[in-house]
Formats: sequence, C-alpha cells, structure tokens
Amino acid sequence: MKSPLYFEFSSDAKSEFKNYLKTLNIEVNKDPNVFLTIDETKIPSFKKDVEKVRSIVEGDEKFLVTKKIEGLTILEARYTTWALATLLGEPLIQNDQGHRAISIYDRDRSNTMAKGARYHQTREGGSIHTDNVNTPLVWDYLLFGCVSEGHVGGENILVNGLDLLKELRTNFPDVLNILEQPFTWECRGVHDSTYEAPIISYKPDGSPIFRHLRPYMESAHNKTGKPLSVEQIYALDCLDSLLESSKLQSRVKVKQGEIFVSLDYQSLHGRTCFSDALDCINIVDFLNGKQGKLKRTLDRMWILKK
Ligand SMILES: [Fe+2]
Repeated sequence: MKSPLYFEFSSDAKSEFKNYLKTLNIEVNKDPNVFLTIDETKIPSFKKDVEKVRSIVEGDEKFLVTKKIEGLTILEARYTTWALATLLGEPLIQNDQGHRAISIYDRDRSNTMAKGARYHQTREGGSIHTDNVNTPLVWDYLLFGCVSEGHVGGENILVNGLDLLKELRTNFPDVLNILEQPFTWECRGVHDSTYEAPIISYKPDGSPIFRHLRPYMESAHNKTGKPLSVEQIYALDCLDSLLESSKLQSRVKVKQGEIFVSLDYQSLHGRTCFSDALDCINIVDFLNGKQGKLKRTLDRMWILKK
C-alpha cells in the first residue's frame, strides 16, 4: 500500500495568502457558492505553487494532498480550497441547484445509495470510481478540502489510472477490449437524460480517459431497458477486483486544512465507510453559529481546465 505525495506551499505563498485573506471578509462570505473574485495579482507566489500542483497531477502522480497552512480558521481554510480550485480552472455546477462547491457529509445514517441517495450524502464506503460520470463532458481536476476529519474511518482510496491501464494491457486484454466499448450513463443529480460512453477511451495523444461509477452506470442500463451483457458484467467484475487490490492502491486520511487534488479522468478514488460521533453537528448548523463537534465534512469541487 502506497501513500500519496504531499505538497507544501512555499513560505512566500503561505504568508502572501494569509495577508490576502485578511483583506477579504471571510467570516461573512461563508457560502462557497458565492465566489469571491480572486485578485491573482495579490498572490503571485501562491499562484506559482498552484501551477506546480497542476504539473504534478498532470504528470505521473495523478493526485496529491496539500499540507495544511497553519494558523488559518476553518473558514479561511475552506476559502483556500476555493481559491486553489478557481486558479486551476472553472468550477463546474454539481447539482440541479447550480452549486459549484458541495459539502460531502452524511445527511442521515439510514440513507443509502441503494435507496437512491447520491454517494456524497451517505456514510457508505463505495466502489472505486471517477467523479467524471454525471456529464458527457470530460473535465479535469477533483478537489476535496477537508473541513473536518470526523469520528472514525473515512480513508480515501486512490488508484493511478496509468498503473491500472498497464495492468489491463499486460494481463487482461480481453477485459480492456470490453471496457473500451460504449456503456450507458445517467446524469444523476444533474438532470434526467442518459448518454453513451466507454469506461476507457483515449485522447488524440493516446493517453487514457477513465469514466467509472458502477452503481450509477448499472442504474442507467436498467432505466433504459438495456441490461448489461454477461461479458460486460465479467469485465466490470475484473475491473473492480483490480481496483480493490492493495497492489494498485494508495490510501490517505485527509486532515482538517488539507486539500486532496487529482486529475479525475486519469485516477480513480473511493473511501472506506465512516461514522460520525453521536452528538455531532453538520456544516450548515456550524455556519449558523452552533457549537459542537463537526461531522466528517469535505468540500468538493469539479474543475474544467481553462
Ligand atoms: Fe467520488
């Protein structure tokens, strides 16, 4: 089992960003969906570090975790995620309410994906996947800013898509061939339509594009009356078995103030199940001034490179 690379912002970037935060009214502008305009000219060193993050995740690594900038409040740390995301590209809408940043936390212990809930609203561990499934558009970066680690569990599981492709090419070419054919997908949480796309496709330069979230895809096949073939189910079973193997996995538990960044179409991720404490509060109550231990909470953003 491997660990992901940790990235530390330079001293100049940290002090410059902290000074910039002081000029913003962060304690009032609490809603991540009300984006503040970032004045890039005020944070040149931070911007330079963002470009380093971009080149690492676009290189062989595919994902990293940025270390906490010490001395920031929870709200200032959240703003760091939005700033990093916005400097990387255009934050995309993630639901039918037009939100470009979404808080991932368990809404209700009794709610499950089997009952139709979206993954980010449950405490379940889940299949290893890309987030890039709700739209035919291939976007670029996935960010999770950790607001609270929660009570127990909730490790992130990460698989480098290049390692996975190498394994498929070397040992399972028949599986790869099936995964390169079209499957049906739904736009759960965004709108009702479906579309067709392979699980593995390629850019003109031959580099891979992964699209995988089995429960959503199986649901789309059922809805459209096109049950998966025995060969397709075999290929998916092989793919999921590879994704579950420790040989291909890195694991990390992100801590408050750390930000996970990945190139979503060339990496896959999952999480182990978790539980919040009995007497915890959610992010909405926290923002409204309620005191208490926060549920496990991550701010998620999907970014299209400009
Ligand atoms: Fe995800």
